[in-house]
Amino acid sequence: MLESGFCRMKDELDIFNDIVDELLKLEEADPVVKLGDPERMKDTFDIAVGDEPMGEADFRAVLGNVVLNTPRTASRSFFNQLFGGRNPVATLGELLSVMLNISMYTYKVGGPHVGIETELVQQICKRIGYDKEGSGGTFAPGGSMSNFMSVIMARDAYDAEIKNMGMRKQLVIYTSQEAHYSIAKNATFAGIGKENVRYLPVNDLGQMETDLLDKWVAEDKAKGLHPFLINATAATTVLGAFDDIDALADIAKKHNIWLHVDGAYGGSAIFSKKHKHLLKGIEKCDSFTINPHKMLGTPLSCSIIVTKHKQQLIESFSQDASYLYQGDGDDYNLGKTSLQCGRRNDAFKFWTLWKSVGTKGLEKIVDQLYHLADVARDYVKKHPDYTLYSFEESTAVCFNYKDISPEKICNALSEEGKLMVGHGSFKEDTFVRFVTVNSRLTEADIIRFFERFEKFAESYDF
Ligand SMILES: Cc1ncc(COP(=O)(O)O)c(C=O)c1O
Repeated sequence: MLESGFCRMKDELDIFNDIVDELLKLEEADPVVKLGDPERMKDTFDIAVGDEPMGEADFRAVLGNVVLNTPRTASRSFFNQLFGGRNPVATLGELLSVMLNISMYTYKVGGPHVGIETELVQQICKRIGYDKEGSGGTFAPGGSMSNFMSVIMARDAYDAEIKNMGMRKQLVIYTSQEAHYSIAKNATFAGIGKENVRYLPVNDLGQMETDLLDKWVAEDKAKGLHPFLINATAATTVLGAFDDIDALADIAKKHNIWLHVDGAYGGSAIFSKKHKHLLKGIEKCDSFTINPHKMLGTPLSCSIIVTKHKQQLIESFSQDASYLYQGDGDDYNLGKTSLQCGRRNDAFKFWTLWKSVGTKGLEKIVDQLYHLADVARDYVKKHPDYTLYSFEESTAVCFNYKDISPEKICNALSEEGKLMVGHGSFKEDTFVRFVTVNSRLTEADIIRFFERFEKFAESYDF
């Protein structure tokens, strides 16, 4: 096996196919893995690496044991996080990317994938109404890092000297209390400081209270501070709420502040005629994060940051390196606008998906997720034992059942290998947060979730 012919990979691909066959069967028959005690994981899975090579049969067994006992995020019982499912054609793209093992920094080693990434970035820019010449973007290793790039661009746009001289001013970021935690982390990475993030309160729907923002910015300016970035969220991680981009854009314009829209979760609504109104005003933002690995079913990770100001992207991220950039021009050397040096090819899997199903297919995926959430919400509304906490047009359906602790039931459900669903909180309430992110599921899968949830609740001593 392992040492056979140069790059043949035949034996390894056979192993791959065997294990995947088993995995696909198990996903249907036994959709939730019982993980067991994490303290015993090293022994259960024979994790330690040693000095001696392993025999083929043993190696195959260890591999199978690990893979077949890993949480099954593509199963019909996974509603736990903002990713899930397995879109076959996007998975095909991902598998081929792994085989190609290129790096996206230059045309010299990326070849046509450079054109593919550029096409996707341009298409997103076009969809949100950015002009083709001035706009640009790149793929980052996740939504948190896309958001980080927005902080860096906003910071440098505010004061170009910071990247040379370091931080000499107290810069301030504004976002809502429901914003993703990457905003605080990014403030530390960018030298802004967590204490310089202002969290605006939210209304009952989880949207930022925009009225206060104007006042807070004016007060900070009067104190000699430097407001430079407003981070809007589309949709919030727990409730799936969309901030009012139009209103925030007016305030950003008035104070000359960069407006970023964190659409890592809900940004994919731009593909839906029915739901894109949730991002009304998106063309006015300075930058926008969208994660196809969440609502569009593309394998992790796939996150895109686009900006209206391509020149700022270049100024913030380009760095000369004569050993790397050897010809072809900056438009084809994507490393010049990237956070990273070596960069995996996250574009191809999204392209294989988009190319095969077309924009109409992406729209269907998004609409299906909202539809499945409607089915779940209707179920909860109709059954008196449930309390609903979330609202229409969100793919996060938050509820409680009877007076059972959401934390206890969610943990017990996964420990017992029944269902994977998480819990969240908003203001004073804590609840089960059920998310529809797998567009291949059907209405029957949603109803089945509730039936199994109730059966488990009745059978378990809470
Ligand atoms: C609103 C929002 N922004 C950013 C992120 C971070 O994205 P990633 O997990 O790709 O880093 C998430 C993840 O759930 C999110 O919900």
